[in-house]
Amino acid sequence: MTPPNPDAVSLRGIVKRFPGVLANDHVDLDVGRGEIHALMGENGAGKSTLMSVLYGLHRPDEGTISLHGKEVSFGSPAQAIDAGVGMVQQGFALFGELTVTENVVFGSEPTRRGLLDRKAATARVTELIERHELRLRPGDRVRDLPVGLRQRVEILKLLYRDAGVLILDEPTAVLTPPETERLFGVLRALAAEDRTILLVSHKLQEVLAVSDHVTVLRDGRVSARGRTADQTAAGLAAAMTGREVDLDRVHPPGTPGDIVLEARSLIVPGVEGKPLLDDVSLTVRAGEIVGVAGVAGNGQAELSGAITGLLKTGGSIVLNGQNLDGLSVRARRDVGIAHVPEDRAEVGSAPTAGLRENLAVGFHRKRPLVRKGFLRRKAIDDHAAAIIEDYDVRASGPAAAMGTLSGGNQQKAIFGRELTHDAPFLLVEQPTRGVDVGAIENIHARLVAHRDAGHAVLLISAELSEILALSDRVLVLFEGRIVAEFTKDEADQHTVGLAMAGGAG
Ligand SMILES: Nc1ncnc2c1ncn2[C@@H]1O[C@H](COP(=O)(O)OP(=O)(O)OP(=O)(O)O)[C@@H](O)[C@H]1O
Ligand SMILES: [Mg+2]
Repeated sequence: MTPPNPDAVSLRGIVKRFPGVLANDHVDLDVGRGEIHALMGENGAGKSTLMSVLYGLHRPDEGTISLHGKEVSFGSPAQAIDAGVGMVQQGFALFGELTVTENVVFGSEPTRRGLLDRKAATARVTELIERHELRLRPGDRVRDLPVGLRQRVEILKLLYRDAGVLILDEPTAVLTPPETERLFGVLRALAAEDRTILLVSHKLQEVLAVSDHVTVLRDGRVSARGRTADQTAAGLAAAMTGREVDLDRVHPPGTPGDIVLEARSLIVPGVEGKPLLDDVSLTVRAGEIVGVAGVAGNGQAELSGAITGLLKTGGSIVLNGQNLDGLSVRARRDVGIAHVPEDRAEVGSAPTAGLRENLAVGFHRKRPLVRKGFLRRKAIDDHAAAIIEDYDVRASGPAAAMGTLSGGNQQKAIFGRELTHDAPFLLVEQPTRGVDVGAIENIHARLVAHRDAGHAVLLISAELSEILALSDRVLVLFEGRIVAEFTKDEADQHTVGLAMAGGAG
């Protein structure tokens, strides 16, 4: 018998196993109509897996799914969409070359006599954009849109298919604070129309601000659930990790030594005369963390590319007195640049190769992993085991394919690999994107220990709190230029925030 007002979504006893992993262990989840429900938990706790089960990407090994009191079973996302369940996955799935409208209707195009009815498609998309105040232009090419708008295209896709249940897996990981605010405005409006929102997030403040209810997973099981109004940040962190987490630790300053890295007058020309990187010079000393604050898209990618050699730029990079001009990415690594890239999936790792092999990359021509030209199995295993242990990488084992690790665990693995390099200089971008609060604490402590061991660290992060917690010096990048510099004592949310917005430093 179904209750008179059944929940929009009701999962009962969901079990999902992967080889060597029990990802979901008898999970129950109830979400009402018109509710924003947050799903939290450590990296690898099983959040994406549970949402993928609801979205028909995985079949559960046990358990049932009901929508509005009726049991359903999805063999594919297409079936889930037909039943009104849509999902925006971790990382987007849009076609950059296509327009907003083409992306939205892709796969369910309106047709007239068998042909795409472009007029009908545009009209319907325009109507939805206006009704939901998404502020998109149907004819814009997706590759020209900033990430916040791309995400709205993903949401629009779900609305076009009239999804009553919208799942968003870490939608704010790549958004700026104002973009996040606007997304939450859209979500609240959708909930007010009685749609149901499932939101996966690691950000405690966001969950507290936007959700009505929250469920916490730990090791595949529900460890806490309740009304958001009854939760605190510390309580949620403890439910996730099983321990107390110091959420606002600011680390003491280091004792900088000699200059290790020097960037001189870096220039990257732009398209319409406005350079993407405009005469940027900076130094990083041994035993120092220099933080680069700034809203994403103000030259961070160009600065990173100039240092690593991925991008040809004007100006020069000098490492311990050696000019690196003309050296390849690989040669620069060899002379002493370690790099945690922003995009771990595209440049940081090989998803189909094993975790062990991914951890050996960059060491594979060096002792002790290689001797007399031969790879040494035992050394490679030991090397992987040490990183997995030190950086708390959760996987079924070192043989697991990198791509089967949860998002946050891939990040921890790449981070651990690069710190293990022991290169004099480390460039680290968005080190805690997508990782849980416990892992943030660990990653921050590791970065400080790396500094205190005498390495020079350049930290590029969109999280101002992270910049302030770690940096000995803060540079602010705005429209391709360094517009302000602060000592650790001078830097606070207000002063740095102002400079990031283009105000005077
Ligand atoms: N396709 C797969 N094959 C094998 N194991 C998998 C697969 N997908 C997920 N897993 C494993 O299932 C567990 C749960 O992963 P899941 O991606 O659901 O975690 P998560 O809570 O979303 O973590 P994160 O916060 O890092 O995104 C992990 O141990 C992961 O390695
Ligand atoms: Mg996930």
